[in-house]
Amino acid sequence: MAARDVNAISRQIQDATSGLRMRRLRQADWSRRLVRETHLRCEDLIWPVFVRDGNGAEPVVSMPGVERRSIEGCVEAAREARDLGIPVISLFPYTDPSLRDETGSEALNPNNLVCRTARAIKAAVPEIGIMCDAALDPYTSHGHDGLMDGERILNDATVEVLMRQSVIQAEAGADIIGPSDMMDGRVACIRSALDDAGLRDTMIMAYSAKYASAFYGPFRDAVGSNAMLKGDKRTYQMDYANVDEALREAVQDIAEGADMIMVKPGLAYLDVLSRLTQELNVPTFAYQTSGEYAMIMAAAGNGWLDGDAAILEVLTAYKRAGASGILTYFSPKIARTLRG
Ligand code: PBG
Repeated sequence: MAARDVNAISRQIQDATSGLRMRRLRQADWSRRLVRETHLRCEDLIWPVFVRDGNGAEPVVSMPGVERRSIEGCVEAAREARDLGIPVISLFPYTDPSLRDETGSEALNPNNLVCRTARAIKAAVPEIGIMCDAALDPYTSHGHDGLMDGERILNDATVEVLMRQSVIQAEAGADIIGPSDMMDGRVACIRSALDDAGLRDTMIMAYSAKYASAFYGPFRDAVGSNAMLKGDKRTYQMDYANVDEALREAVQDIAEGADMIMVKPGLAYLDVLSRLTQELNVPTFAYQTSGEYAMIMAAAGNGWLDGDAAILEVLTAYKRAGASGILTYFSPKIARTLRG
């Protein structure tokens, strides 16, 4: 193309855009960094860790790179998290099948695996926050989050157990209780149970908008509830077609005393995250679930995409959608990247 033509086109563009050229700021790494709107930081990360009884670690096959760790391995993870500036570690137990029953009674054993792990971490790494789920699925022989009567999940009877489970976990060292069960009224009841036990400082991060999702599959492998799960969780977890309902759930949980709320899964629910963070002003977290982790790892493992780049892009998207932070199995990996 002749120089004259290029100049003519340039003038035309100039006229059309009154001199504004969006690419001007994109021309160098320094100028892109200068005008970047969203920043992912180590402080945004919550690291979910699986714990097993016994020595040594066991791989979770559907989550390459993730292991079920021993208690000592979890203490190691807590040290690593502290050194990387990750504020919270979240504990999920693999309960031996012999300890699972219809009512999930092992959840109320103050010496169960998760409680022993929380105590060990508190003693060795007191600077780190510990989060524990309130839900019965790691402990029930049917794999559901609550008590059952035939095919039905009993709401109020389950809440009563969750109240006791929360107090036991908080007494063992959990700083944050994460009700992930989706029973109605559980946040208020857990709050009052904690207060009555003198645990006023224990925080609640409510899994408020938790959807019945295909993206939990590998997690259920990790905690060993997949093979046992009878049916699905659609009578308590939300229908993925709904967003107004997520707002009502979140408003309710906040009214009941939730300090923080969560949207889960994350990637397919960025609109929900965005809606909640625009309409409510309470710290709101997103859970990048096991299935999301597995998708990226599978594609990266096959060389079909650049895993590290995809992880950064997705986690930044969570922040862009309004997340205060993200529960992600990539936490230590991404924290190392962010620290250079
Ligand atoms: C259980 C629980 C689940 C997850 C966190 N807590 C699974 C489920 O509800 O079946 C999923 C986490 C993940 O997939 O990474 N209450």
